[in-house]
Amino acid sequence: MHDPRNAAAFSAAEDDVFARIAGRYDRLCDVFSLRIHRLWKSHMAARIADHAAGRILDVASGTGDIPLRVLRRLRHRTGEIEHLIVSDLCPEMLAIARDKLSGTAANLEFALLDAHDLADVPSGSIDVYSISFAMKICDRERVLAEAMRVLKPGGRFLCLEAARIPATPIHRAYLAYMDWCLPLIGRLAADGDASAYAYLLRGIHEVPSQDALAAELQDCGFSDVRYDNLTLGIVAMHVGRKP
Ligand SMILES: C[S@@+](CC[C@H](N)C(=O)[O-])C[C@H]1O[C@@H](n2cnc3c(N)ncnc32)[C@H](O)[C@@H]1O
Repeated sequence: MHDPRNAAAFSAAEDDVFARIAGRYDRLCDVFSLRIHRLWKSHMAARIADHAAGRILDVASGTGDIPLRVLRRLRHRTGEIEHLIVSDLCPEMLAIARDKLSGTAANLEFALLDAHDLADVPSGSIDVYSISFAMKICDRERVLAEAMRVLKPGGRFLCLEAARIPATPIHRAYLAYMDWCLPLIGRLAADGDASAYAYLLRGIHEVPSQDALAAELQDCGFSDVRYDNLTLGIVAMHVGRKP
């Protein structure tokens, strides 16, 4: 049965799609988003860098695009971050992140972590928690509860995720375009691996609205919750603070 808290109904235990596509993931992001994901990630990284001090935890880092951009931003402000944890549930994705980031900073840690259960991360130990394009494939309630647990009081939460274009007719047209276009280009770009775009497609259909996700953050206990719409609201970046 579809769990409304997991928009894409994805379960890593049942499908190792990210292990299968790890080597093609960056190319798929370019193809599926017409390279616009680079702008969204740069925006997210800039906001993380604004708050970057102490210990940063990026969960579901994939091939490391967000940490890479954060470190580029901070290059001229060395010493601000004490520690950056780059993490993912999938060893194949994390291995690519490790290659990409090797030699960029001394204070990096790579960790296999499940966003639902960050057991190795002590409570109240993190200054900045970030998650990009993974909330729609996870159980949001569990992920938010873990983010709240590991953050220090006053710590920042940042989430970049597919969203709903506020103008409903435009959102419907966007979904219709994606329904038509993703299987077509996805089949070619992912060498016929339908999972590579099926979760993305289900996720963008079922993702909560920006206001609904903001309410979930508040229900979990976050304060100062806000969001920015990017590219009309195709994607949104939510931020919050642990009181
Ligand atoms: C769509 S990719 C996003 C990667 C990266 N953040 C980016 O923006 O390019 C989703 C990532 O989430 C990871 N993932 C899926 N379920 C996870 C979980 N429960 N905990 C941690 N990572 C997970 C996958 O292995 C994959 O690397």
